[in-house]
Amino acid sequence: MLFGATGDLAHRKIFPSLYDMEKRGALNVPVVGISRDAMSDEAIRSRARDGIERFGGELDDAIFDRLAQRLHHCMVDYSQKDCFAGLREKLGSRKRPLYYLAIPPSVFESVVEELKASGCAEGASVVVEKPFGRDLQSAQALNKVLHRVFPEDRIYRIDHYLGKEALLNLQYFRFANRFLEPIWNREHVRAIQITMAEDFGVEGRGGFYDEAGAIRDVVQNHMMQAVALLAMDPPAAADDESLRDAKVRLFRSMLPLQVDDVVRGRYEGFKNEPGVAQGSTTETYAAIRINIDSWRWAGVPFFIRVGKHLPVTATEVLVSMHKPPQRLFAAEGGPSRNYFRFQLKPSTLIAIGASAKKGGEEMVGEQIEMIALHQEPEELEAYDRLIGDALSGDSGLFARVDEVESTWQVVDPVLAAGTPIFDYPKGSWGPSEADGLIKGFGRWHDPLSPERL
Ligand code: BG6
Repeated sequence: MLFGATGDLAHRKIFPSLYDMEKRGALNVPVVGISRDAMSDEAIRSRARDGIERFGGELDDAIFDRLAQRLHHCMVDYSQKDCFAGLREKLGSRKRPLYYLAIPPSVFESVVEELKASGCAEGASVVVEKPFGRDLQSAQALNKVLHRVFPEDRIYRIDHYLGKEALLNLQYFRFANRFLEPIWNREHVRAIQITMAEDFGVEGRGGFYDEAGAIRDVVQNHMMQAVALLAMDPPAAADDESLRDAKVRLFRSMLPLQVDDVVRGRYEGFKNEPGVAQGSTTETYAAIRINIDSWRWAGVPFFIRVGKHLPVTATEVLVSMHKPPQRLFAAEGGPSRNYFRFQLKPSTLIAIGASAKKGGEEMVGEQIEMIALHQEPEELEAYDRLIGDALSGDSGLFARVDEVESTWQVVDPVLAAGTPIFDYPKGSWGPSEADGLIKGFGRWHDPLSPERL
């Protein structure tokens, strides 16, 4: 039961994913697209088709026809009393509906309450899209509203990063290997960087983005989840709750951000984007230092850099290690640092940086990089995986209430602080002020563009 069926998210992501699921034979339930518009089943089907053709892979008519047969439209006119009567009728005797709220957060509360009042919430689950609140207080309020109607284990808070193959691999690589754990701590790791670069702007989402900004849009959620998988202690057991417990423990050991942990930037021309308010102070770029106060990580900064209109679209993690303690090869400036490089986008890549001797008489080294794994962009899109999981009641790849609230707790102090904002030219690596943040820990690592891989 898809609320917001005529919206942008459904168009770009949800319908293409439903199509992929249909293709894999993984969709075996009816789909009801819900919106305020009076439209026929045919009209919602052609809207879905358009989204799949534009944003999905190639469309096969036979597969689309199968999807179309299970797709219906239901109109909800919120201004009417008992506006969910039509929805209840569509539900009929069906049990365990899954409501997907691909709608603005401002209407979550009324929709959720109305689901309950109309008797549609019985045995139901709910998928909630990000942004999940806009600060700690609003996230807590939203959780309260949801909990009035749905138990926590039937609330699926989407953070699509959790469904990404590369993130799942990060988790696997960390805990499936013996050699990593002994060095994965402050004794050996000097600093960790994550850069999430996008070479495009707000793409028609100026209004939404101006309300959010880079920190709310991708740091509080996607980047925090990436840090969690990199830095958490091994979960106590293999079940989903143990994994989430491990992440929450990590989030709780993060120190709340201070104003000098953050440099905000804005690409030139952002203020002229449609939907952006005059006098906007929203960032399209943020460089952040996260400090984790734990035995494992105290003194190891986690640098995060995210931005729109940067030179490439790529997300990479760089874990740089301390130098060897003995200065045997100091004469030539010493070997460079070992590092682990994880590319999370566009491909899944794991590489290890090391030093080796150059051929020849001299004991002189050079930096080499061993590419341990290089997988092409993921087969299974994050949304396919997550919608499938929600349909089968598997909540492991969704953010639990305490994950969401503890990450807001970390970023909250800087959201309202009004830190300065520095303009940067489109296509650059952001404001040079961000270099000061990383001082003493080398330079920002710029991910490779796909062509250079
Ligand atoms: C979304 C943000 O959650 O993630 C977008 O709202 C961002 O601004 C997108 O572009 C990036 O996701 P991905 O999967 O393309 O890296």
